[in-house]
Amino acid sequence: MESIVNQINELKKQKNAIIMAHYYTTDEVQRVADYVGDSFYLAKAAKNTNADIIVFCGVAFMGESVKILNPEKKVLMPDMNADCAMAHMASVETINKMRERYEDLAVVCYINSTAELKCHSDVCVTSSNAVKIVKSLPNKNIFFIPDQNLGRYVKKEAPEKNIILNDGYCPVHVKIDEKWLKDMKSEHPNALVLTHPECTDEIIKLSDYIGSTADILKFAKNSDKKEFIICTEDGVSYPLKNNNPEKVFYFLPKEYRCLDMKLNTLNKILHVLKTEENEVFVSDETREKSLKPLDTMLEMAK
Ligand code: 13P
Ligand code: SF4
Repeated sequence: MESIVNQINELKKQKNAIIMAHYYTTDEVQRVADYVGDSFYLAKAAKNTNADIIVFCGVAFMGESVKILNPEKKVLMPDMNADCAMAHMASVETINKMRERYEDLAVVCYINSTAELKCHSDVCVTSSNAVKIVKSLPNKNIFFIPDQNLGRYVKKEAPEKNIILNDGYCPVHVKIDEKWLKDMKSEHPNALVLTHPECTDEIIKLSDYIGSTADILKFAKNSDKKEFIICTEDGVSYPLKNNNPEKVFYFLPKEYRCLDMKLNTLNKILHVLKTEENEVFVSDETREKSLKPLDTMLEMAK
């Protein structure tokens, strides 16, 4: 293992490459990464790097967004099969129908979506800026795609808007069982429940804090409390434990893992660094159209 890490570091230097990883990747992947974060942080960080090659350890829509924001850079994915099921759970036909129905409609697209869906949207959001961006849009009518759960959460936080929900969902977060959480709460009555907004309303209602993966990390670090139940993918256990050795965290059982995120491994990182295979390509037309909502997000989230 040590020698894989050494080889990765050597190739990174030789090729002016960096590794970016989402918090849901494994500990060993996060350990070799130069940038680890939530989707918003990674999108911003990708724009500010001088590297020639970015090895992106996450899922397809993330690598695609990085390529759209950095067309001149080579973006490599350790595993091209790592995809987010939710990113495909909306359709251009439905967007077009909604646009016909509402004159002032803004199509707000969670960054967990294909580049094609972004092309037909007005602004992208991530879980860390969705409420802020939706609230500051001039439009009353908002079609929120693809995630119904994040959309429902934003709707509660922005009651002044007419938010129309789509029926997409994250297959990992929607599975979280209400009974499991209730049992955990009675077993650990002093623990605060920190939850990702992709969870269902039943889970949100039982929670003390709702936020993106990065927000959850920040909350746990700044809280005076010592125990936390974490309702999001357990990749966050690595930074949570590292940053808070004195605190206790209870994570979801193993069956709630995002298996796509876990497709990123050290061997595959080494392989793509050596061969420069698995390059992400986005056509010029798609890039041009999908850049606008991404740039609008970066601007509005400032
Ligand atoms: P974050 O925006 O918190 O990184 O979440 C991304 C994601 O895929 C959650 O399932
Ligand atoms: Fe997609 Fe869910 Fe995996 Fe996040 S956890 S990448 S939303 S499938």
